Amino acid sequence: MELSVTVIDLNNQLECYRVMGKTVGFVPTMGALHEGHAELVKRSVLDNDVTVVSVFVNPTQFNNQDDLKLYPRSPEKDYALLKNLGVDIVFAPSVEEIYPEPDMRVFDFGNLDKVLEGEFRPGHFNGVAQVVSKLFNFVNPDRAYFGEKDFQQLAIVREMVKQLKFPIETIGVQIVREENGLAMSSRNQRLTDVDRENASSIYRTLIKSLSITGENSPREIEKYVIDEINNISKLHVEYFSIVDGNSLKRISSWNDSDNIVGCIAVFCGEVRLIDNIRYK
Ligand code: PAJ
Repeated sequence: MELSVTVIDLNNQLECYRVMGKTVGFVPTMGALHEGHAELVKRSVLDNDVTVVSVFVNPTQFNNQDDLKLYPRSPEKDYALLKNLGVDIVFAPSVEEIYPEPDMRVFDFGNLDKVLEGEFRPGHFNGVAQVVSKLFNFVNPDRAYFGEKDFQQLAIVREMVKQLKFPIETIGVQIVREENGLAMSSRNQRLTDVDRENASSIYRTLIKSLSITGENSPREIEKYVIDEINNISKLHVEYFSIVDGNSLKRISSWNDSDNIVGCIAVFCGEVRLIDNIRYK
């Protein structure tokens, strides 16, 4: 496994594979890797001749500076894991390498970045699009892998790929969960054992809601989920919305769409967790 910290190094390493006509898979990450990231990497290693993983904590997508400061970092552990998984190139640039000057680009994703996370984290998805578009330009992969845990991020990356006409196939990978159902996240490291147990009720409640859709409207299900989770110690729901999986517009009837997903953000103390569940 090769490690590059500059775009020039990355290009040199990729060039060797490109001249041989090898396919390239790409997994962008912010490090502090866990089984969720590993699943994306495994898919890429299976599908492609060469796998590139980036490890870069992107400052432009953090609208909360404390969250950026507290974001867990474990580069040595990450590299060991990636080597084990058969990754060919790790790209771990500095902030100056990616942003030699401020990125002033403003993307227009219509409704997609105004709702859900977009409403509570203004500018977040613009930052994601800035960094992912730069990384796509540097790596120029055939396929790129994103987790369905960040359902809205996946929708926005797909829209960005369409708008900028990147010749890249975007592949969504299903959510990897801890044994108790909690969606794996680098932020889970900041939870105590008791927090983790409480936070596991997020997924339990989402699953329970699946079984009562017959007698309840989407709005009633939203209320049910929010009330159930708010009843658990230290948990506070920021939003839970049942939306059309393509437009991310809130639906009011189960007949409104054949692609329906419930997206949730919950504070567990200071730690913000997201998850989602498919209804249809
Ligand atoms: P990060 O949070 O490190 O996540 C990297 C990728 O791993 C994302 O595509 C995310 O959806 C996926 N992932 C995280 N937890 C997962 C889980 N439990 N199951 C399945 N996939 C999971 O998302 C980002 O970084 C950044 O926004 C990034 C795309 C790298 C741009 O900076």
